[in-house]
Amino acid sequence: MKTIKDKTFVRLIDKQKIQKRIQELADKISKDFDGKNPIFLGVLNGSFMFLSDLMKNLEIECQMSFLKVNSYKQLSSSGTIKELIGINEDLENRHVIIVEDIVDSGRTMAWIINTLEPKKVASIHIASLLLKPKALQIPIKVDYCGFEIENDFVLGYGLDYDGYGRNIPEIMVLKS
Ligand code: IMP
Ligand code: MG
Repeated sequence: MKTIKDKTFVRLIDKQKIQKRIQELADKISKDFDGKNPIFLGVLNGSFMFLSDLMKNLEIECQMSFLKVNSYKQLSSSGTIKELIGINEDLENRHVIIVEDIVDSGRTMAWIINTLEPKKVASIHIASLLLKPKALQIPIKVDYCGFEIENDFVLGYGLDYDGYGRNIPEIMVLKS
């Protein structure tokens, strides 16, 4: 159990389970993108830990970059997306893998996909550590999904509550 600001959180997914699953996802991505020189686009801030561990397990030639968008205020998604750091890389003819900590309503991901499409990329795939299938408002296909979870607020392993808790090395869920 852990208290972050005014809320109490309990463990949902432990370190070992996260690392094992990331290794599996990395193996699958290495197979699917061998020889394709993909570029991973991490969505800041939440994806930094997942992207880091994922990259360490990849054996293929690849590149990475980040973009930063803002949509979430404390415990619920605001729905409006703001671009805070854009994409500098030339993505024409590149295989892009968007890396997220979590897909919740799907609005952020839909916005990013819309932004990438005019850039004449070769392909777009999505890797997300977590997915809340019951919260999806826009149909989004997560090609490489770590774990499907219930529609509850989680933090840790990059995910935050009001900016805190990102450093916790496991996924914790808000205690009801
Ligand atoms: P969406 O646009 O509703 O899919 O929200 C995606 C973004 O909201 C993610 O990149 C996260 O930063 C944030 N988010 C969604 N659910 C949670 C949660 O349970 N805990 C912390 N952040 C979350
Ligand atoms: Mg995020």
